[in-house]
Amino acid sequence: MNIVDEIQALRQQVKLWRMQNLKVAFVPTMGNLHNGHLALVEAAHQHADKVIVSIFVNPMQFGLSEDIDNYPKTLEQDKKRLSQVNADLLFIPTSKIIYPKGYTDNTFVDVPNISNKYCGKSRPGHFRGVATIVCKLFNLVQPDVACFGSKDYQQLQVIRTMVEDLSMPVKIIPVEIIREESGLAMSSRNGYLTPKERLVAPVLYQTLQWLAEQIKTEKDFYRLCQQASNKINQVGLTTDYINICHAYTLIKAKRNDKDLVILASAFCGKARLIDNIQITL
Ligand code: PAF
Repeated sequence: MNIVDEIQALRQQVKLWRMQNLKVAFVPTMGNLHNGHLALVEAAHQHADKVIVSIFVNPMQFGLSEDIDNYPKTLEQDKKRLSQVNADLLFIPTSKIIYPKGYTDNTFVDVPNISNKYCGKSRPGHFRGVATIVCKLFNLVQPDVACFGSKDYQQLQVIRTMVEDLSMPVKIIPVEIIREESGLAMSSRNGYLTPKERLVAPVLYQTLQWLAEQIKTEKDFYRLCQQASNKINQVGLTTDYINICHAYTLIKAKRNDKDLVILASAFCGKARLIDNIQITL
């Protein structure tokens, strides 16, 4: 695996591949890689000849109260894992390279409406930071396709909307959620869970499954979400939000909508867990 930290080296390698008519896939990450990330790299291999992974802990998507310095960094282990799944190039730029003027003075990309609800409401500015870095990384890598996990469903929709609105020549590939045996969606944040919290964290997914069954017959979505929230809170988690939404616009679903996604987030100790289930009625 080729490891580069400079833009010029990245561009040179991509240019060489392009001259050989090779298709390039891209998997942006913030490191601390788990099996969910490795599944993204595996999916990327199925859509292209070469796979580029980036590791960059993006300060622009962290809120003022969020502790970026304590974000887990496991670079050596990440490199080993990426070699095992045959990533072709790892791009690990510094903040200085990505934001030479500092990230607060950087041009940004704002995807309206969809960015301000749910996770965006709990984390103001988060999706602006995500859209901006993903746009910048797309400009640097210029991939044919890019893979994103479906666990961060709202992020996926923000990126799809940005790509569509700004006519970016990249195909977005969503990759299914990878779960632990307990059903808990894999996430770097699971590292914050104590053994006791790990026992109750799967209730989030269990409740989503319950809700997915209920909406086949019950159309009072508001009441169902209230019940689901109570179920989550009863075991000691704290629901941040739980909503039945239209799968593309993420607007709260209407009775007759067919393509739905149930989005949920709950605090479990220090960790803010997120999960979702997509349903076609
Ligand atoms: O999902 C993530 O890890 C990040 O939000 C991403 C897409 C790499 C942008 O920093």
